[in-house]
This record gives sequence, C-alpha cells and structure tokens, in this order.
Amino acid sequence: MKYHALIPAAGGGSRMGGGTPKQYLPLAGRPLIWHTLKTLTHVMAIEHVHVVLSPDDPLWDAHDWSVFSGRLSVLRCGGATRAESVIQGLRALRSGVADDDWILVHDAARCCLTATHVMKLINEIGDDPVGGLLAVPVADTLKRVQADGRVAGTVPREGLWQAQTPQMFHYRMLLDALQRVPEVTDEASAIEASGFQPKLVAADATNLKVTWPLDLQLAEWILANRRQ
Ligand code: CTP
Ligand code: MG
Repeated sequence: MKYHALIPAAGGGSRMGGGTPKQYLPLAGRPLIWHTLKTLTHVMAIEHVHVVLSPDDPLWDAHDWSVFSGRLSVLRCGGATRAESVIQGLRALRSGVADDDWILVHDAARCCLTATHVMKLINEIGDDPVGGLLAVPVADTLKRVQADGRVAGTVPREGLWQAQTPQMFHYRMLLDALQRVPEVTDEASAIEASGFQPKLVAADATNLKVTWPLDLQLAEWILANRRQ
C-alpha cells in the first residue's frame, strides 16, 4: 500500500479579503503553498505529491517550483468547492493508484504542517481499516449565536475536536464516499456519511489553516520561530 498526497489549491481565498488567492500570498519569502509543498515532498513515506489547481489559474506558472521536480505533479482540474476539487483530483489520479492506497488530502492553506505531524498521522493510523485525520481538542467555550448577535445557547465542548488536515483514507473508499455526498467540507464527513468512524490523531494549533488576514502573521511567526 502506497501513500499519495493530494493538495486542493483551487480556492479563491475570499475570507482573506479577495485579491491574490491566499496560496500565492508571500510568506517568509515564498508563495504560501511553497511551504506546504516543501513539507509534503520531503516526507519519503509519500510516493508523490499532487496539487489541484483551478483550470484557469494564472499564478502557478509565475513561480519556480523546480526544487520539487520529480516529487510533484500539477492537476489543473479544481472545481467550485473544495470537495469538487478533491473529487476531480482523485479521478485524475485513477490510473496511477491502487484502490487501497492511502491518499493524504491536505489543504494548501495549512502551510505550517511539519513532517512530524505527517508521520504521526501515518503511524497512528497504521493499517486501520477506515483511516483518520489530524485534529485538536476544542479549548474554548462554544456559543451558538442568533440573528441579533446575542447568545442563543452554550454548546458543551466536552468531546469536541477541530478537524485539520491531512485526512488519510483509502483511495476507493474516499472517492466513493465523496461522490455520494459532495456537499461536505472535509473528507472525514464523507467517510462518516458512508457509515464509518474515522480515527482522530492529536495534532496541535501550529497546523493552522490560513483563513483570515491575521492568520498570515501567525503563520509567519510559526515558520520563523521553527527556523531558529
Ligand atoms: N479549495 C479548492 N477548491 C475550491 C475551494 C477551496 O481546492 N473550490 C482549497 C483551497 O485552495 C484551500 C483548501 O481548499 O487550500 C481549504 O479551503 P479554504 O480554506 O476554504 O480556502 P478558500 O476556499 O480559498 O478560502 P475562502 O473559503 O475564504 O474563500
Ligand atoms: Mg473555502
């Protein structure tokens, strides 16, 4: 059984305020996604890294990716939603992967991922029949808000975790699951909808998804402090 990484990177980054999609924003002297690719291409357990771009992405070719050559392929088949991008990417991989190969789906925007995170996921999932994902326990008290901005109720945080990526599932099981419920926001939700229970593997808050402008500064800080 081999491991393959699939990186959805076809989003527009609307919560960053529009303009340049966040995967190309400058971060520590490189496009943000460069850091994501560096980590995944350096994990030798991973056979190959596939990045899914929007078909009309004009920015990829403006950068030099030659340092990753031989370990990275580009699939210009992204869709209107993250799940669509993942489904199209999985379909494009079909001829090169076995049904029971592991696919690690990882958000391009989680650029502070480390090889240690990846190997923890791979090792703790082991030969689990379902697969699983990195996640962190919820730390804050959770409030449900109503339309006027007032609290409608408090949601007990006990037993709640925040899902991260990579999310690691068998190729065929994952593609079948996503095709059945393409409206999900992560792979695990699709696997759950198929009646399986993905395993949670504890990660940490440094594997953040750059979503809001402030996250870019947090990511910069995390990368800078690791280099020291
Ligand atoms: N993604 C994708 N195809 C889409 C939408 C998202 O491949 N149609 C990717 C993004 O590029 C990102 C990852 O999925 O790496 C996680 O999505 P998210 O953080 O929501 O990114 P965006 O959709 O780009 O941002 P926003 O939701 O703020 O517009
Ligand atoms: Mg999005």
